[in-house]
Amino acid sequence: MTSSSDRFSLTRRLPADHQAEALRSDVLKGLTGRPKTLPPKWFYDGRGSELFERITRLPEYYPTRAEHAILRERAGEIAEAAGAATLVELGSGSSRKTRLLLDALTARGTLRLYAPLDVSEDALVAAGGALTADYPGLTVAAAVTDYEVDLTLPGEAPRLVAFLGGTLGNLDDAGRRAFYAALRPQLGPGDGLLLGADLVKPADVVVPAYDDAEGVTAAFNKNVLHVLNRELGAGFDPDAFDHRALWNARESRIEMRLCSRRAQTVPVPALDLTVDFERGEELRTEISVKFHRDGLTAELARAGFDVRHWWTDEGGRFALLLATPSPQGS
Ligand code: SAH
Ligand code: AVI
Repeated sequence: MTSSSDRFSLTRRLPADHQAEALRSDVLKGLTGRPKTLPPKWFYDGRGSELFERITRLPEYYPTRAEHAILRERAGEIAEAAGAATLVELGSGSSRKTRLLLDALTARGTLRLYAPLDVSEDALVAAGGALTADYPGLTVAAAVTDYEVDLTLPGEAPRLVAFLGGTLGNLDDAGRRAFYAALRPQLGPGDGLLLGADLVKPADVVVPAYDDAEGVTAAFNKNVLHVLNRELGAGFDPDAFDHRALWNARESRIEMRLCSRRAQTVPVPALDLTVDFERGEELRTEISVKFHRDGLTAELARAGFDVRHWWTDEGGRFALLLATPSPQGS
């Protein structure tokens, strides 16, 4: 039998300086624009990935438990429908829920390769080590990459591409269109897309999920400031900002923001930049779009995907869908 380390590989798919350059350009654009914004991918250094894992265990944060419950019930059906030789997972994080899919696909005997993709190398290494130890027949080929830049799918067909957790909702309309356009041409007739999507629900349920009593989401939100301080020598005082989570009903999304407690000027030496904040000025750090079945099905259809299955948890809070490439879109 091969050792678990023989069955785990990690490839850094982007050029060595790519992430550093992308951070500089995102921060320059985001902190000089109006309103000020930052893309959510910069939350996820080692500490950010750990904080996200703590979020998934909070009583208020329902999406992970809801999606886990759907997967527990449907993994066999998914494995049957997909018959996948390769499971590619985008933004895989800890791959904790993925174990339900791996169990079902290995039981069915079709799976050859699990290929998790994430910007967080720390998360990939931790998950890959644990998975190869726990699944003696499994080969794990992890890739550190940004799925908004490089969405090349590894492995043999048939492939099942999983994008779980509602992370699709962290992309705006244009970002989702670009994502579908990059993915669709790579999928053949036997391939599938397994997509987790958080559903629209009352603000008094969704807001606490992003503003928990223990303050873990606040620490996650402020973590991006620690990343900027470390990577760009920025001078953010995280205590000088308040965490905010707002339900934007018009856009059907939660917006996480950091609100400046006072007028302040923050240096960002690596960019030769100083950034002025007014008292009460907000920096938007994440959007998390919530979907209706009709809207998401229609958006996928426009992008060349047919939704074949739509499953929700008992409370109807979260949906997991299985889509295939529509024949006319190929
Ligand atoms: N799928 C897991 C983790 C969700 S957290 C779950 O359902 O619990 C979002 C994950 O996506 C994090 O691990 C983060 O590092 C990764 N991520 C965020 N933006 C990304 C990007 N642009 N490219 C690749 N990975 C990204
Ligand atoms: C990863 N993503 C789906 C999470 C979400 O719910 O939008 C990130 C998160 N932000 C705050 N809490 C969790």
